[in-house]
Amino acid sequence: MKKLNAFLIFATFAVAGFAASPTFTVDASRSVGQVSPTLYGLMTEEINHSYDGGLYAELIQNRAFLDSEKSPVHWSVVNDKNSAAAIALDSSNVFNDKLTASLRLTVTQADKKNSAGVANDGYWGIPVQPKTTYRAMIIARADANFSGPVTVSIVSDDGKKVFATEKFSGLTTVWKKFDVTLKTGRGTPTAQARFVITLNQPGTIWLGLVSLFPPTWNDQPNGFRKDLMQMLVGLNPKFLRFPGGNYVEGDTVETRFDWKKTIGPIEERHGHPCPWGYRSTDGLGLLEFLQWCEDMKSEPVLAVYAGYSLKGMHVNPGADLEPFVQDALDEIEYVTGDTNTTWGAQRAKDGHPAPFILHYVEVGNEDWFDKSKSYDARFAQFHDAIKAKYPQLKTISTIGDDQPEKTRVKSRKPDMIDGHYYRSVDAFIQMSPDYAKNYDRNGPEIFVGEWAAYETPFVPWDKRSQKEPPTPNLKAAIGDGVFMAAMERNSDLIKMQCYAPLFVNVNPGARQWRPDMIGYDAISAYGSPSYYAFQMFSRNVGDEILATASAETAVQGCATRDSRTGEIIVKLVNPQPTVETLKLELKGVGALGATAEVITLSGSPEDTNAINRPRHVVPVTRKLRDVKAQFTYTLPANSIVVLKFHAH
Ligand code: AHR
Repeated sequence: MKKLNAFLIFATFAVAGFAASPTFTVDASRSVGQVSPTLYGLMTEEINHSYDGGLYAELIQNRAFLDSEKSPVHWSVVNDKNSAAAIALDSSNVFNDKLTASLRLTVTQADKKNSAGVANDGYWGIPVQPKTTYRAMIIARADANFSGPVTVSIVSDDGKKVFATEKFSGLTTVWKKFDVTLKTGRGTPTAQARFVITLNQPGTIWLGLVSLFPPTWNDQPNGFRKDLMQMLVGLNPKFLRFPGGNYVEGDTVETRFDWKKTIGPIEERHGHPCPWGYRSTDGLGLLEFLQWCEDMKSEPVLAVYAGYSLKGMHVNPGADLEPFVQDALDEIEYVTGDTNTTWGAQRAKDGHPAPFILHYVEVGNEDWFDKSKSYDARFAQFHDAIKAKYPQLKTISTIGDDQPEKTRVKSRKPDMIDGHYYRSVDAFIQMSPDYAKNYDRNGPEIFVGEWAAYETPFVPWDKRSQKEPPTPNLKAAIGDGVFMAAMERNSDLIKMQCYAPLFVNVNPGARQWRPDMIGYDAISAYGSPSYYAFQMFSRNVGDEILATASAETAVQGCATRDSRTGEIIVKLVNPQPTVETLKLELKGVGALGATAEVITLSGSPEDTNAINRPRHVVPVTRKLRDVKAQFTYTLPANSIVVLKFHAH
């Protein structure tokens, strides 16, 4: 950010003559619409190890031994020179009908000084923080000759350092749950560690499920990673669109997000294959999504499975679709019903008696891919059933303003349509000035439910993008910025927008898509320039859209006013590799404070953040003095600038 500081020194303002030179005008006397109070939100699904190995704080990978039917992946034998053990999957000795495999550990040789057992390598390591309490839950049984003790430890990869250790006993031939607390001492954080379960005598035990959690956000059991939640809260999101995305659809009807299988104790959740090539534990299930919304003070935008799955199968509208419609109604009842309802009572039983707020239900995801053209009828069936029982809810069609008009739902008027925009930076720069300008203000409301600018030659789903960094650079953030300005200018109609995907685990093999907003490994996380661009927009927005005009400039922007305080917030994006000296005019302002706040994100286009360089590109805030209704402001090259004026 050294370059940025140099630019800031040159950022000047003075009254000037305004003839045919780059100009940006805000007309504060013309409020052209209300900013949607829910404009900025988040979209999420299981992709790039967003939950398992991401937000969901579980540390044991393959905790229920279901990730592979062939071998206990992520588990390996540990033994000393004078001890020996073997492990195998066992489907005949299982805890219940949901956990359909167990791990049999047979220790054939061990004594007090030479233990043997099994280790789990976590999601690219077990993160060890100093002076921290970890909670393990182990479901186990033993053969008749063994009752314990069993030692559980967090140990360095090379086995030389034990960060925390504890013992439990009391195993019998009957399955039991054991809770174990592990405490680390002083030291340096590391993810070069494993979770190890050992015996110090010969014996056979079966593990049905092994879970390990670090401290979680708000100390919630089965909860979320604290650092990632902190970053999300930092975006001030007003909604969370979940659970997809492709994740709600699944590759097949069978592997859709089947919400009823994602609630209750974790040992009652079988998990399912996610369409992004790995298995989901469903540990982050429907109630956790809702809890997540509550934790961020956001409202859910609930996507329900609507009878289309990614491999091209669809459920015929009519009687075949009816059970899926009923599932969606039950799901809505789980979210909003009081405890006298069947599913509201279930939610209370699951630990959350109070209903959640819900306004929007999205019917499916990207149904323009459905070659059978059944979406109109499928949408109608869901829409009618939802409206009959919940007239206050708004339905969202998944065929949005990015798709040809003729493909959209016609038999009903959806309350909202969801458009998805994954475009190059240049495409966003070109389309943004006129985006939504001529849309029918009486048409359905618009949701931009997925969007992101990419700066590489590859579309996000192109395998070649695997060679590119997982998160976008500043150039991409500039593309994001022009599009966000366009959406904000039109936020009387664009009621909600969210970047996608939100998360990426940056470890090799963890990702399926780029660019992604937030990157992390087992122990740390960072925001991409796109994260900071989004934050600058979402945290600085008024409630009235002000008329703006620009001339002789490539700079794009928008302006809003906070009607309670009179503050005027102007956002400017300079996509050029050169500074832009702009005549900035605030027309129709009464009293204008002499100072303003300026937040700037700038640098070279290729500047970026990474796991080992997390804060290379971050916004810088400073004060402007001698503010006037007309002044010259020099925008740094490749910059996003938010100017906050005190006005009445
Ligand atoms: O955001 C990644 C994917 O892009 C979503 O799952 C899908 O809806 C879209 O095609």
